[in-house]
Amino acid sequence: KRTAVLISGRGSNMTALIEAASDPDYPAEIVGVISDKANAPGLGMAAARGVPAQAIARSDYPDKQAHDEAIDTALGALGAEIIVLAGYMRILGRSFVEKWQGRIINIHPALLPSYKGLDTHKRALADGVRIHGCTVHFVTPAMDDGPIIAQAAVPVLVGDSEDDLTARVLKAEHRLYPVALKLVAEGKARMEAGRTAFSGFTE
Ligand code: GRF
Repeated sequence: KRTAVLISGRGSNMTALIEAASDPDYPAEIVGVISDKANAPGLGMAAARGVPAQAIARSDYPDKQAHDEAIDTALGALGAEIIVLAGYMRILGRSFVEKWQGRIINIHPALLPSYKGLDTHKRALADGVRIHGCTVHFVTPAMDDGPIIAQAAVPVLVGDSEDDLTARVLKAEHRLYPVALKLVAEGKARMEAGRTAFSGFTE
């Protein structure tokens, strides 16, 4: 499946996906990367791996709708069938999300439905939880709210700093996202009636 990745920054999840997809047996091909920030380091990382990368900056468009439409046009030009959000730090509008519903996924650095939004690791440490992690889910108009596809848990260790926990979760993200995209690209995880329907595999 032709897959486009939307980023805003570093692009380490994007890189993990490009690497997974370089295996000819992997069911998704990363056909392009789009950033809403012209200076996103991930753009250079994608280009260095031979993946077309472009910036579509919010500041070049009069409003959010026009920006979403420019991204949609670029996705059309890429022939994208699946959109992967990988550290894309902007909320996509309802009409964009509804158009792509079931074909757009996101990774969130927490075990949803806990810790939606920002500063997840800081909040988890403040609460004293002993298990934390990351979630890949289908995107719906409400932020960090769509049906869950896959999760990975990591321990919170005594003495962890925010950086320690961030790094441990990020490593889990890099393992989880390629697994989740594979399920979606193979049609083994589908969004149906607001839920994730699984088929064609055993755990
Ligand atoms: C990741 O932790 C992702 O879960 C969050 O933002 C971070 C992006 O990192 N939404 P990267 O750009 O993939 O390195």
